[in-house]
Amino acid sequence: MSRITCSRLGKKVTSAEEATTHINDGDCVGMSGFTGAGYPKAVPAALAEKAKRAHQRGEDFGIELLTGASTAPELDGVLAEAQAVTKRLPFQSDPTMRRAINTGETEYVDTHLSHAAQQAWFGFYGTMDVAVVEVAAILPNGLLVPGSSVGNNKTWLELADKIILEVNDWHPRAYEGFHDVYYGTRLPPQRRPLQIHDPMQRIGDPYLRVDPEKVVAVVETSAPDRNLAFKVPDDASRAMAEHVVDFLRHEIDHQRLPESLLPIQSGVGNVANAVMAEFANSEFENLTAYTEVIQDGMLDLIDSGKLASVSATSFSLSAERAQAFNARAEEYKGRILMRTQEISNHPEVIRRLGLIAINGMVEADIYGNVNSTHVMGSSVINGIGGSGDFARNAYLNFFVSPSTAKHGAISAIVPFASHTDHTEHDTQIIVTEQGLADLRGLSPIARARRIIANCAHPDYRDALQDYVDRALAQNPTGRHTPHLLAEALSWHLKYQAQGRM
Ligand code: COA
Repeated sequence: MSRITCSRLGKKVTSAEEATTHINDGDCVGMSGFTGAGYPKAVPAALAEKAKRAHQRGEDFGIELLTGASTAPELDGVLAEAQAVTKRLPFQSDPTMRRAINTGETEYVDTHLSHAAQQAWFGFYGTMDVAVVEVAAILPNGLLVPGSSVGNNKTWLELADKIILEVNDWHPRAYEGFHDVYYGTRLPPQRRPLQIHDPMQRIGDPYLRVDPEKVVAVVETSAPDRNLAFKVPDDASRAMAEHVVDFLRHEIDHQRLPESLLPIQSGVGNVANAVMAEFANSEFENLTAYTEVIQDGMLDLIDSGKLASVSATSFSLSAERAQAFNARAEEYKGRILMRTQEISNHPEVIRRLGLIAINGMVEADIYGNVNSTHVMGSSVINGIGGSGDFARNAYLNFFVSPSTAKHGAISAIVPFASHTDHTEHDTQIIVTEQGLADLRGLSPIARARRIIANCAHPDYRDALQDYVDRALAQNPTGRHTPHLLAEALSWHLKYQAQGRM
C-alpha cells in the first residue's frame, strides 16, 4: 500500500530530478538526516548531477547545506564530490565532505547540536529557501510520520519557503507512535520551562506538521539508511568500558548514584558503542537513557532487558541491526522515544535529569582540556556534535579514548591540547585503557598528576611528568596551571617532523 494517503500531497509526486528544479544556486537548504539515519536518498544525488552539469557549462552552483547532523555518502558524499556545498552546518562525518572542508573548499560551521535549530530561528543563518525532508509516511490529513531520525526536521519544515518530501518505504510503517515532536518552542523572552521530568515523558505530537501550500514536490524512495558496521570491541575498548562500569559501582557504593544509575547518554563512535556493550555484562538493572543516538550497543541493552527505555533523536545502527529492528519495530514501541534534537540535547533537560554522559575524544591535555574534533590542531574529523551539550550539563561526564593513536605514535594525553572543545572547567572523568582519572574537585596540578599516572600510556608517562615538573620549577609565580610555552605544542610538532611524539 502506498505510504502517501493524502490526496492533496499525493498529486505532487514527481521524480527527484524534477524536484531539484526548485533548488537554485546560492540557496540555503535544510535537509533531514542525523548520524546516517533519515536523510533524503534521491534528491541529493539528482542535485549533485544538476551541479555537475552547471559546472560543465561554466556556471556556478553551490548551496549552503544544513542538516540535523552527519548523513551519508548519498548526501554529504555526492554533494561534496560535485563541489556543490559552499557552507556546511552543524555536523558531518563523511570522508569526502571532510576533505572538502579541510582543503578549504567548503566552509564548515561546527555547531553544538542543540544550538542549530534555535540559531536558525533567531535568524543567525539568514533565511532558508528549501527543506528536503525524508519521512516514513504521509497520512490522509497531511501529517507526516517521521522516520529513523527527527533531528532538525520540525524547524526546517517550519522555516523553509519551499518543501520537498521524500517518502521512504524502507522505514517501518510501525514508526507511527515512536516520535515526540515538541511544538511549544518560543523565542526569548517568551520561553517556558520544558516539562520533561522523566526520560520517556511526552511533551509533543507523534507527527511532523507541514503546510501543504509550501510542498513543491514529493519523491518516493525505497532505500536503506547508511548503516555502517561498528568495529568489534577490542581489548582497549573493553578495558575502557570496564573502567567506566567499575567507577559507576564505586559511585553507587558512595551513595552518589542510585542502583539503577541516572539516565545515560552515550556518544557516537566505536568506543562509546563498546561501553554500551559492557553494560550488558554488568549487574545494573532498570537503566534508562536520555541520549542523542541509539547505536547497536544500546539496542542490545534493550533486548537484554537491562535498559528499560531510551529517549533519543536518531538511530545509528549497523545494517544487520537495522534489518532486525525494522522487522520487529512494533515490539519496541513505548520503550524508544524519538525527539527533535533541540530537545534530546537540551541543556535544561540534561541538567534536570542528571545525565551520565560518555563521549569519545581525540586527545586531552594534562589539565583536562579535551579535543574532540581536530587532528594536530588543524584538520577536523567530525565535529563537536552533541558532546558539548551533554558534557557541560551532565551530572557526570566521561571522555574516553585509547591512550595512543596510530599504533602508539601519538599520545592521546599531551602537554597542551592542539584544539579545545571542552575546557578543564567542564571535564570530570578521563578514561583510557590504562585507567580512569576522576578529576572532580581537583586543582590543575592535582589533575595533571592523576591524568598522567592513571591514563597516559607508559611510553609517554615519564615525559609528561617531566614536563609538569619543569613547568612548575620554571614558573615560580605561575604555579596554578604551569606551562612551558615554548614546549607546549612540541609533541605535535615532533609528530609532524618525525612521525612519532
Ligand atoms: N590523533 C590523531 N588521530 C586520532 C587521535 C589522535 N590523538 N585519536 C583518534 N584518532 C583517529 C583514529 O586513529 C581513528 O582514525 P582512523 O579511522 O583513520 O583509524 C579516528 O580518529 C577515530 O578514532 P577511534 O579510536 O576509532 O574512535 P571513535 O570511533 O570512538 O571516534 C571521535 C572518536 C573523537 C572521532 C568521535 O567520538 C567523535 O567524533 N567525537 C566528537 C563528536 C561527539 O562526541 N559526539 C557525541 C555526542 S552524542
